[in-house]
Amino acid sequence: MIILALETSCDETAAALVMDGRTVLSSVVHSQIPEHEKYGGVVPEIASRSHTEHILPVTRRALSDAGLTMEEVDAIAVTAAPGLIGALLVGVGFAKGLALATQKPLIPVHHIRGHVASCYLACPDLEPPFLCLVASGGHSHIIHVEDYTTMRVLGRTRDDAAGEAFDKAARAMGLPYPGGVHLDRAARTGDPTRYSLPTPKVEGAALDMSFSGLKTAVLNLINTAGQRGEAIHLPDLAAAFEARVAHALCHRLLLAAEQTGLSTIAAAGGVSANTGLRQMLTEAARSRGLTLCLPPLSLCGDNAAMIGAQGYYEYQAGVRAGSDLNARASLSVERALAADFSL
Ligand code: KG4
Ligand code: ZN
Repeated sequence: MIILALETSCDETAAALVMDGRTVLSSVVHSQIPEHEKYGGVVPEIASRSHTEHILPVTRRALSDAGLTMEEVDAIAVTAAPGLIGALLVGVGFAKGLALATQKPLIPVHHIRGHVASCYLACPDLEPPFLCLVASGGHSHIIHVEDYTTMRVLGRTRDDAAGEAFDKAARAMGLPYPGGVHLDRAARTGDPTRYSLPTPKVEGAALDMSFSGLKTAVLNLINTAGQRGEAIHLPDLAAAFEARVAHALCHRLLLAAEQTGLSTIAAAGGVSANTGLRQMLTEAARSRGLTLCLPPLSLCGDNAAMIGAQGYYEYQAGVRAGSDLNARASLSVERALAADFSL
């Protein structure tokens, strides 16, 4: 079964063709970073307008890269939640029009479920049940993937998402937007022990996370140094911050494995591209005898291939949308039936 998948939830316009949920035939991602860079963050209206401009050429390119025509496509999958509402609506509107014109089934996909499914593309032997850390710009979840379409959130952030914390800390350090990847680069030559930063935790909820205190500690450290006329050693501060976030995420994933008795763990979402986190997860899995699935960097950030992968499993489970499909800015990853996407 060949699925054409579309993703427009934030600042990437993406289209992909995926066969049977596991094989990527093509994947095109148009990043809007240059359009938002000068504002230091994603400007929702600019994102929607850019998706409107790029969705058709990106889709055409995905089809031509795969050497396919619309006649050879069996179904259309689209991210319908969560994300920037104006951005999501561009993809949903486009997918609805295409499904109507070509008489193909339409499958709504939850963005976070898509991140989980990026692991199926990277690790062919991976099958539920497993535990997945999804850490992105908008979410930080520890998910028990019970089967392809049944997910239980075991832990989540109570405030900032891990990626958001990376971006805000990086901005305070004077690094360009989006900061996560720049902070990662700076941390590579740093000593994580020079600056002492708090360990993020939530009292009484061992699997929940909190990153705003850590971010504030970085801001305070930089402000205090500025007032005293002292210089900050950027690589050391970046390394200390990265180590704290990576440890918080890794520790909770391992704790969830202990609590559930599951021996397969995975990580997905933009933050799973982080070098320190990947090293920590790889080492922890090796020393504890756990099987680890870590998608390549190309599948960590937003893309449509992951939406095509999850779309296949949603389709198998009978999920279909009609012409009344809507988009939602927020929706639990535990609920993703067609009706859940309608208002
Ligand atoms: O999954 P994603 O592409 O989009 C969302 O669904 O949010 O995640 C983007 C987030 C941004 O906050 C970005 O700074 C962060 O992932 N990120 C990283 C790295 N690469 C991307 N954070 C830390 N280290 C990285 N190498
Ligand atoms: Zn994402």
